[in-house]
Amino acid sequence: MNMSSSKSKKKSRKILQVETFSLPSTLSRMTSIWELANSQLRDITVYEAGKPIEETARELGVDPSVIIKLASNENPLGPSPKAVQAMRAALEDAHLYPDGSGFYLCKAIATKLGLTPENVILGNGSNEALEFLGHAFLDAMRQDEVIASEYAFVVYKLVATSFGARMIEVANPDYQQDLEGMLEAITPRTRLIFIPNPNNPTGTLVSQCEIESFISRVPEQVIVVFDEAYFEFLDNPPDMLRFVRAGRNVIVLRTFSKIHGLAGLRIGYALARPDVIDVLHRTRQPFNVNSIAQAGALAALEDEAHLRETKRVIDKGRAYLQEQFAEMKLPFVPAVANFVMVNAGDGCAVFEKLLRRKIIVRPLKGYGLPEWIRISVGTMEQNKRLIAALKEVILPQ
Ligand SMILES: Cc1ncc(COP(=O)(O)O)c(C=O)c1O
Repeated sequence: MNMSSSKSKKKSRKILQVETFSLPSTLSRMTSIWELANSQLRDITVYEAGKPIEETARELGVDPSVIIKLASNENPLGPSPKAVQAMRAALEDAHLYPDGSGFYLCKAIATKLGLTPENVILGNGSNEALEFLGHAFLDAMRQDEVIASEYAFVVYKLVATSFGARMIEVANPDYQQDLEGMLEAITPRTRLIFIPNPNNPTGTLVSQCEIESFISRVPEQVIVVFDEAYFEFLDNPPDMLRFVRAGRNVIVLRTFSKIHGLAGLRIGYALARPDVIDVLHRTRQPFNVNSIAQAGALAALEDEAHLRETKRVIDKGRAYLQEQFAEMKLPFVPAVANFVMVNAGDGCAVFEKLLRRKIIVRPLKGYGLPEWIRISVGTMEQNKRLIAALKEVILPQ
């Protein structure tokens, strides 16, 4: 017994020595991590999220409660009280793994939308569902291409690049997505087309009619992804689920981060044909959506009163902001969701000045729009404070 264990020790020591000798010489000196990392990652800039309230409060030396964040298109009313109650109850079972299939939530989503649970997959935010698409459909060796509009939500480019696909950006005249231009950009290598509807940060919507005409001309092998993160804010939302029901290669993404007020929980979903959803399931982690998020989302989905009240506050707030921008003669893009993009002259400078007045907005330099900022609609009190601060910052005294 003793002899065999000492033998095996010797053996393992020998292996260790061999491994040490076989280390490539580049690794024995200080190596740039970029010699080891996947080369396409060089083309990615780390996603710059809206500045968190706590960080800003620390920097300004003020209490976080005095800061207004209008930077990430969150629900200014907070989560539904029913969701909070459900999440509190779910905490008691936090020692158990979540339901990996999201059985109850998928069923509730399907019932609400007139689909089946097999049409639904949950993601850790709809951003994770975007990543499923990369895993499922993009291949660097095949030199796949992804199409989206210029100024489209930046995560499409991050996903395409990180999976080694080529991102084709179609010009965005007047900040409206050009579907005809997208059709012209299709090649035999095109795998995915992303259409955020409405788009972030421009806040504009593509109509049902334009989409019908577009879909009828997209080749069968191209998958069209409609990102409907802001769907519930629309008065007359276009119906993209009809393409799912008709068996098209169409995927619809939605989220609990926006009107449902659960951005911190990270939960969203994709809707598609059952065979498409089956493919996506193969790309996800077994327990990708936590149990607290599932409980909160289930309750939020059913809290119609909270959804209605949020939409009412946003509609009123958006109208007020746009009126004020017009009065101040600030160019803005008329919007349909819970944010407005406005030309502030120098977006970064105005962002900094508003920050000193304890208001966080989103400069859009990273989108190639250095003059613009994006302002999320807040409560009326927040909107009024924003406008007062903006007048101090922008209008000549
Ligand atoms: C167009 C669009 N899609 C998706 C998302 C991400 O949503 P989630 O929080 O569900 O990942 C956002 C968030 O800002 C968005 O604007």
